[in-house]
Amino acid sequence: MNKTLKNAFIGLNTHYKLANGQTGRRVYLDSGASTLMMKPAYDAVQTYLAHYANTHSTVHTSAKITSSTMTWAHNRVLDFIGADKNEYLCTFIGNGTTAAANRVAEGLSTLRPEKDVVLISSMEHHSNDLPHRAYSKTVAHIPLTGSGQLSGQICIKSLEDLFEQHKNKVNYVAITGVSNVTGIINPIHEIAVLAHRYDAYLIVDGAQMVAHVPVDLNSADIDFFLFSGHKVYAPGSPGVLIGKRSIISAMQPSQFGGGMVGSVSKWGYVLSDDPLEREHAGTPNIPGAIMLACVLESLSRVGMQTIFKQERHLVKNALEKLSNCRTIIIYGEQKSQRVASIAFNLKGIGHGLVAAILNDYHGIAVRNQCFCAHPYVQEMLTEEFEELACENLDNDALEELIQDRRGMVRASFGLYTTEEDINELTKALIDIEDNIDTYHKHYNKQKDGSYNHKTFDSSANQSFNILDELDKALKICEKSK
Ligand SMILES: Cc1ncc(COP(=O)(O)O)c(C=O)c1O
Repeated sequence: MNKTLKNAFIGLNTHYKLANGQTGRRVYLDSGASTLMMKPAYDAVQTYLAHYANTHSTVHTSAKITSSTMTWAHNRVLDFIGADKNEYLCTFIGNGTTAAANRVAEGLSTLRPEKDVVLISSMEHHSNDLPHRAYSKTVAHIPLTGSGQLSGQICIKSLEDLFEQHKNKVNYVAITGVSNVTGIINPIHEIAVLAHRYDAYLIVDGAQMVAHVPVDLNSADIDFFLFSGHKVYAPGSPGVLIGKRSIISAMQPSQFGGGMVGSVSKWGYVLSDDPLEREHAGTPNIPGAIMLACVLESLSRVGMQTIFKQERHLVKNALEKLSNCRTIIIYGEQKSQRVASIAFNLKGIGHGLVAAILNDYHGIAVRNQCFCAHPYVQEMLTEEFEELACENLDNDALEELIQDRRGMVRASFGLYTTEEDINELTKALIDIEDNIDTYHKHYNKQKDGSYNHKTFDSSANQSFNILDELDKALKICEKSK
């Protein structure tokens, strides 16, 4: 692994005040939500900005630089996920995977209205669930291998049963490549073969996959692959929708305006005959798209196989280290292959309290609650809720306890995550287990289930104020006038 790249992220040296009066380095274990910015890509884009222009301008030199850099960006993204540019299109879209999922759900439901069933897995993020519910009559959830706390990957046999049950009616299957909760990797190649056997398309939500696992669309024959730039070291970049040219060309456009038409008169308009143009109404997020392509170029130079190997090793070590915590429950089938995320609870302690203590006393940034995957998390918590129901509690006390426990803590990783970060997390969790009664006294529980420290204020304006930064920048501008 290229050590220089591992250290080349903005925010690895961020320090905050802690509740114990000390100042500590932030340990960023929330990459599943958003990754940190890769500095070389960011720097390259700052340089490009001297040439910034609109892609819809064509004649002047900056417009030419912008257009050719954007063409490079499209091709770079396709190459990164092994998508032949004669067969696939890369479109930049909206805020992230959510925008891409909405676009495909809408496009495919209008393209094949007679096929009104969509199959999604039981581990989907809401962004790869609700768009399909919105545009299709029936959405069926594919069961997973294992069950409850030990839920695993998508069960191929159950998927086949669902295809048989809804014969000729399944428009497409939409599944996540990697779970945003447990980090479990799904068998997308096998699913593609099965889907095509039943004349269904396959959409892979690659939000949690693209930064961690090598993807080769050509060999997997995947119809659509969606991801978010902010989850692959390019915060501020657009969402990405990669799809087969043949299918996208047949889809009705969903956004209309400049850039996607061939000709317009008062009486009518003719759409561009280039499917890529038809998908890009309006001015795209040019710097964001270029930055994303620079990130992907940098990752390619390291090699995604190398990154995958290294991250799997990190997760394996993390699972081993975390199992030193006496009361930890780690969710997800043990034997499943995972990357990027580990979801857990400390038995008997609310996830909101654990996450707050990790932040306030240890400077460790994690995510908690249900990670926009409510059905999946709920399913994995069933056994714990059943145990709680067996405790002799009145209804109100039981309801309060269940509310406190309805969720998990997630530690999620990126290229910059180190063994030292994992050691810090393990040490902090053992400290929480050992001292939970003392910690408890320092917190007030809020109505929404979160915990606030009684005296320590970790709110944003204690640590950072954008207007202060703008003032400083404006002053420098004034001085240099
Ligand atoms: C698996 C998965 N799909 C989709 C999304 C939605 O991504 P975005 O918010 O960038 O649209 C996320 C975000 O956490 C995710 O983890």
